[in-house]
Amino acid sequence: MDIEIRQATIEDIPEITTLFRDTVRAVNSQHYSDKQIQTWSAGANDTQKWEERINKFYFLVAETNDTIVGFAYLKNGNYFDGLFVHKNFQRHGIASKLLRIIESKAMMDGYEEIKSDVSITALPFFENHYYDVIKKQKKVIKGMTFENYIVSKTL
Ligand SMILES: CC(C)(COP(=O)(O)OP(=O)(O)OC[C@H]1O[C@@H](n2cnc3c(N)ncnc32)[C@H](O)[C@@H]1OP(=O)(O)O)[C@@H](O)C(=O)NCCC(=O)NCCS
Repeated sequence: MDIEIRQATIEDIPEITTLFRDTVRAVNSQHYSDKQIQTWSAGANDTQKWEERINKFYFLVAETNDTIVGFAYLKNGNYFDGLFVHKNFQRHGIASKLLRIIESKAMMDGYEEIKSDVSITALPFFENHYYDVIKKQKKVIKGMTFENYIVSKTL
């Protein structure tokens, strides 16, 4: 599969948010309750927040045949804040490609460490890419508690 990576623009928001909503519902639902999935996926509707993320952060999309099949973004230089792959394109190496570019960007900007907050679902992926768990935590999003992990890697 030919995957092209480019920086996101605000025109990508409808595709990005649909991917986000569908992936949370179809993939993260293995590890979180219906209520948690409902709260989490509703984040897709906050267009202003997505616009801010695209404008302020280093925000990448992965495309194949003009379809967005994944996205990732880096916040504040070395905080890897989001990584989502289309529900129908899981385990095709798309997240690995995005991660390599995100890590290179942090390195080029002079950071020696990268950190992330990762879901239970994504932890095996990050461990496979040599991230260490710093701690297991409970994160509150819109009044709902989510278990996840803070991970880090020396670049
Ligand atoms: C986690 C996620 C981004 C991985 O994306 P992906 O494109 O499927 O990952 P890759 O194909 O690059 O995976 C590379 C390797 O990581 C490991 N890996 C990935 N997903 C895994 C899983 N669910 N379980 C175990 N190992 C996994 C495997 O070793 C895999 O290599 P392999 O397929 O040859 O065995 C994707 O599953 C996803 O979108 N999850 C839901 C959203 C999410 O939780 N994102 C994190 C938000 S905090």
